[in-house]
Amino acid sequence: MRILMTGTAGFIGFHLALRLLAEGHDVTGIDGMTSYYDIALKQARHARLRECPGFTCHEFMLEDSGALARACRAARPDIVIHLAAQAGVRYSLENPGAYVSANVVGTHNLLEQVKDLPVRHFILASTSSVYGASLEIPFAEDLPCNQPLSLYAATKKACEGIGHSYAHLHGLPITACRFFTVYGPWGRPDMALFRFTRNIFAGLPIDVYNGGDMQRDFTYVDDLVEAVCRLLPLPPATQAGHGASPVAPYRVVNVGGGQPVGLRDFITAIERATGREAICNMLPMQRGDVPRSWADCTVLEQLTGFHPATPLQAGVDAFVAWYRQWYRAADGA
Ligand SMILES: NC(=O)c1ccc[n+]([C@@H]2O[C@H](COP(=O)([O-])OP(=O)(O)OC[C@H]3O[C@@H](n4cnc5c(N)ncnc54)[C@H](O)[C@@H]3O)[C@@H](O)[C@H]2O)c1
Repeated sequence: MRILMTGTAGFIGFHLALRLLAEGHDVTGIDGMTSYYDIALKQARHARLRECPGFTCHEFMLEDSGALARACRAARPDIVIHLAAQAGVRYSLENPGAYVSANVVGTHNLLEQVKDLPVRHFILASTSSVYGASLEIPFAEDLPCNQPLSLYAATKKACEGIGHSYAHLHGLPITACRFFTVYGPWGRPDMALFRFTRNIFAGLPIDVYNGGDMQRDFTYVDDLVEAVCRLLPLPPATQAGHGASPVAPYRVVNVGGGQPVGLRDFITAIERATGREAICNMLPMQRGDVPRSWADCTVLEQLTGFHPATPLQAGVDAFVAWYRQWYRAADGA
């Protein structure tokens, strides 16, 4: 298949592109190489992908409609996987404009370019953050989630709505995947696993919010890749119910581990993997953050027969092993 993927220099895009290239697909990658975190990491991911036959790489922002139109025309994609975004809950307090620009404008630009192409399936990356502070757990796809707590969540919910309208108006089959805290090798430096590991190796305190009384449903990146690969040949047919359009080929699927983990247990797993004790700096809840996430994975299982199952300790061990290799100096720190 010919696959157009945005965000290929990012954490998830890199892993997914590697897998699809290994399976013999052609992947056209687009990434704006934003400076949100260490660009060297993004460059290294793209360099690795460039070694694979079948990978074509474009580095520009999705806001550049002209470049996007040319890349989409050249790629003639059967499948589009849209991962590029300004991610992260906390940074949306500092730079809200980046979220509106990358997530809302960028997603709209991409949909405009592919709406009339014969695309079999468009995968849209959404997030568990859209569930906000929902008290009904685990989070099922049909829970009302119209009260986002952060601008990140608000722009991702907007992407889902924009996607639904394109599915309805243009018959573009779209699956919005709500990812739950993804972790693993080549991970994101702004996320807790990376920050905690870095500080623990450096002997620095780690910031523990809400006194450690938080829960996250973690998804190991290989499990996410498996889930998305199984969803690719399953575009949604038209659907009814949950207030969705009966004529829109659109669906929402949670992609999570299905098992919430307490923050303290998460820290213990990192301590085991690093062989060092964390110094915890207890802080109040962060603005915009959610106290817990927990995925109901029934829809994913029914569609694909797959349930993410990598044990947290195994995933954290794999991350720390990669981290040691990436920052060789950290081991001796
Ligand atoms: N990692 C997680 O835990 C998680 C959880 C829920 C949802 N998601 C979503 O999954 C997707 C991938 O996340 P990730 O963790 O790989 O993030 P990432 O930041 O590592 O990757 C995103 C990539 O998009 C690129 N990008 C950002 N804005 C762009 C723009 N305007 N034009 C072109 N490229 C742009 C960045 O340079 C980056 O390489 C995102 O949509 C994110 O919101 C991730």
